[in-house]
Amino acid sequence: MSTRPRISARISAISESATLAVDAKAKAMKAAGRPVIGFGAGEPDFPTPGYIVEAAIEAAHEPRFHKYTPAGGLPELKQAVAAKTRRDSGYAVEPAQVLVTNGGKQAVYQAFATLLDPGDEVLVVAPYWTTYPEAIKLAGGVQVDVVTDETTGYLASVERLEAARTERTKVLLFVSPSNPTGAVHSREETIAIGRWAAEHGLWVVTDEIYEHLVYGGAEFTSIATAVPELGDRVVVLNGVAKTYAMTGWRVGWLIGPSDVVKAATNLQSHATSNVSNVAQMAALAAVSGDLSAVAEMRTAFDRRRQTIVRMLNEIPGVLCPEPKGAFYAYPSVKALVGKELRGRRPASSGELAELILEEAEVAVVPGEAFGTPGYFRLSYALGDDDLVEGVSRMGKLLSEAH
Ligand SMILES: Cc1ncc(COP(=O)(O)O)c(C=O)c1O
Repeated sequence: MSTRPRISARISAISESATLAVDAKAKAMKAAGRPVIGFGAGEPDFPTPGYIVEAAIEAAHEPRFHKYTPAGGLPELKQAVAAKTRRDSGYAVEPAQVLVTNGGKQAVYQAFATLLDPGDEVLVVAPYWTTYPEAIKLAGGVQVDVVTDETTGYLASVERLEAARTERTKVLLFVSPSNPTGAVHSREETIAIGRWAAEHGLWVVTDEIYEHLVYGGAEFTSIATAVPELGDRVVVLNGVAKTYAMTGWRVGWLIGPSDVVKAATNLQSHATSNVSNVAQMAALAAVSGDLSAVAEMRTAFDRRRQTIVRMLNEIPGVLCPEPKGAFYAYPSVKALVGKELRGRRPASSGELAELILEEAEVAVVPGEAFGTPGYFRLSYALGDDDLVEGVSRMGKLLSEAH
């Protein structure tokens, strides 16, 4: 018998997606008849708009879409993504600079796989979305955390970034609006950070998937457009999932200089080939259409955002800065960790989240999943009544802590 490990070290090191795990546990409890309210899933609760679904149905009837198409994406979709990028963020790109991927996730993986050699460092602002560390690690990169907290609204500054930079730093990951915190950098901050990156010859990988979900006076700024000094060392990640309520369709894209896009396309040509043509044609209808569907969702999310922030801040021991974008609230629960609750004493936000799931039947994702223990992430992309009921239940339970 071989004594060699059954699973490679590289793959064993990958953790399960904590957000999907919480969601799966909540769904399993629900299926078993328990009235669980889930704040775990990062997806809009709206169906995909009808005109997008119709485009997919039409495409499914077309024999040319029953066959392989170019690995890097349908030419008409690349063209439309380039036009949409010009329209929404003023960033002028050619279709040849676009690679259509299986969701934003594959764009994240391929961006890091294409840019990083073993030992290259990536500056990542924490709290960060769970997928980034795994993608960086798999590429052989070294993640360097720049930790932020509620006192700065989870925003990084040039000073904090500079303190983490070394001669091995190759990439700055810039995500605004942010998952999990909802933080949005102002135009001035974005320009300052971008110029600092340019000055030090860093690449910027920027995830713009929440570009259309900003609230109040906040504005989305594309670092690629706002900082021309970055030249061609920018890779933009995006997709249709959040803007058009299309998480299940799996269409995203990566935009970058043509050598990076060519190399990433070679990788994709061996890994997955073309994204499903039916899904690509649905995405084509989405990005070529107007933004009225997202405007409607944004109104609902904004209403829920205000409710959830108010209700969370009313719970003793919970502190929630106002998120300005995406659809997540990221409250600190540090004051509650270690307190006694229903005969138990949760020693971490992870244990506290488990107790809340069992006792209040409410699912939240603990901050451990995002690199900062002591916090919860709550998605407010769920119905208004469920939102109020879920936070009330959680508040009632947590107010017993002593
Ligand atoms: C910041 C961020 N980027 C990318 C994605 C990827 O989305 P998808 O793979 O569904 O397109 C997500 C999804 O949660 C996200 O939150």
